[in-house]
Amino acid sequence: MKYSNTIITGTGSYIPTEIVTNPDFADSKFYDTESKVFDIPHDEISAKFQAITGITERRYVTHDLNASDIATLAAEKAIADAAIDKEELDQIIVAHDFGDIPKGTIQTDTLPSIASRVKNKLGIENPNCVAYDLIFGCPGWIQGMIQADSFVKNGLAKKCLVIGTETLSRVVDVHDRDSMIYSDGAGAAIVEGKEENEQRGILSFKTQSFTQQEAYYLFLGKSNKSNADPKIRYIKMHGRKIYEFALKNVPGLVKDTIEKAGLTLNDIQKIFIHQANEKMDQEIIKRLFRLYGKREVPDNVVPMSIQKLGNNSVATVPTLLDLVRKERFGNHEIEEGDAIVFASVGAGMNINAIVYRV
Ligand SMILES: CC(C)(COP(=O)(O)OP(=O)(O)OC[C@H]1O[C@@H](n2cnc3c(N)ncnc32)[C@H](O)[C@@H]1OP(=O)(O)O)[C@@H](O)C(=O)NCCC(=O)NCCS
Repeated sequence: MKYSNTIITGTGSYIPTEIVTNPDFADSKFYDTESKVFDIPHDEISAKFQAITGITERRYVTHDLNASDIATLAAEKAIADAAIDKEELDQIIVAHDFGDIPKGTIQTDTLPSIASRVKNKLGIENPNCVAYDLIFGCPGWIQGMIQADSFVKNGLAKKCLVIGTETLSRVVDVHDRDSMIYSDGAGAAIVEGKEENEQRGILSFKTQSFTQQEAYYLFLGKSNKSNADPKIRYIKMHGRKIYEFALKNVPGLVKDTIEKAGLTLNDIQKIFIHQANEKMDQEIIKRLFRLYGKREVPDNVVPMSIQKLGNNSVATVPTLLDLVRKERFGNHEIEEGDAIVFASVGAGMNINAIVYRV
C-alpha cells in the first residue's frame, strides 16, 4: 500500500558520557600539513579554535562502545518513543562513514553492515525487516529519511528506523588541530506511513552531489606528524574549502526545498542544520534569510548543539531533533502544525534538506 504521509513517530539519541574540553588538548602536539610543529601556546590555538567553531567541549564514547552499540541505544529509545513492535519494522537504514572501529585500532569494520549489527542487537527476528547502511557523509541521516520517505510513499515499506551513528574520536589524527572539531554520537527516528487528509510529515526534499572539484574535500590521509606511516590514515579535510562550498550552495538548496513544499521562509518555525562549525552555520542561515530579503535572523529558529557536542557527523541532526522534540534543549520547542527544515552538508560533497510539517 502506498501512503500519502511519512510521519516521524519516535526519536532517540545517545550522547556519549566522556566530556572532552578544549583545555584537555593542552598536551597535544599539533603539526601543520607540512609536519611543521605549531610553536604557539595551546591557549592561543584553543582560543582561535573556539572563536572559529564555537566548540568548547565534545563527547567521546567510552572504550567498550562502538558505532553499532550507540546506534542500538538510540534506536531502542526511538522504538519505545514510537510505541511500536520492533518486529513490524520493514527497514533499518543506518547512516555512518566509518562503521565500527574498535578502540586501539584504526581499522573501519563494516562486515557485517552496521545495520545488520543493530538488527542483531535489537533482537529483531523478522527476516522481512531489511537492514542496510548508507554512506553519504554528514548528510547521511537526512538522506536515509529521504530514502525511507520514498519507500513509504511507493508502498515498499510502512515502518522504517533511520539511524545516524559515528565515532569520529576513533579516526582523528591527534596531531592535527582540526581533530578538536570531531565527536561521537548517535540519533535515530522511526518513520511511519499514514493515510491522512492533512499535509503533514515530509513535505519535500532535495539532494545534490558535487564531485568534480569537491569529491576529496574530506578524505583519509596520513598523520601530520613527521615521518608518519602513510598506510595509517585518519579523517582529514580542506576546512576552508568546505566552508566556502557550504556557504555557496546550502542556502539555495534549502530555499528550493522550502519552495517545493509550497512554503516560504515565514512559514518555517525551526531549522535543524548539521552542526559543523558555529560560524559557518550562522553564515549559512544569514545567507538563507538574505535570499528572502531578510536582514535579521530571529532568535530561537536555529537550535545549536555544536558548542557542547562538537561535530558528530550524521548524528547531529537526529540528536538535536530528539532533544527538541522531548523539550530537553533550552527553550527550543516544536508544536503540532510547525513546519521545520532539516539540512546538511558533508563528505562527497553532498548537501540535502527536508521540509517537514509536525
Ligand atoms: C577547519 C576550520 C575550523 C578552519 O577555519 P578557517 O577560518 O577556515 O581557517 P583558516 O585556514 O582560514 O585559518 C584562519 C585562522 O584560524 C587558524 N585555524 C585554522 N584551523 C584551526 C583549528 N582547527 N584550530 C585552531 N586554529 C585554527 C589558522 O591558523 C588561522 O589563524 P591566523 O588568523 O592566526 O592566521 C573551518 O574551515 C571549518 O570549520 N570548516 C568546515 C569544516 C567542516 O564542516 N567539516 C566537516 C564537514 S561535515
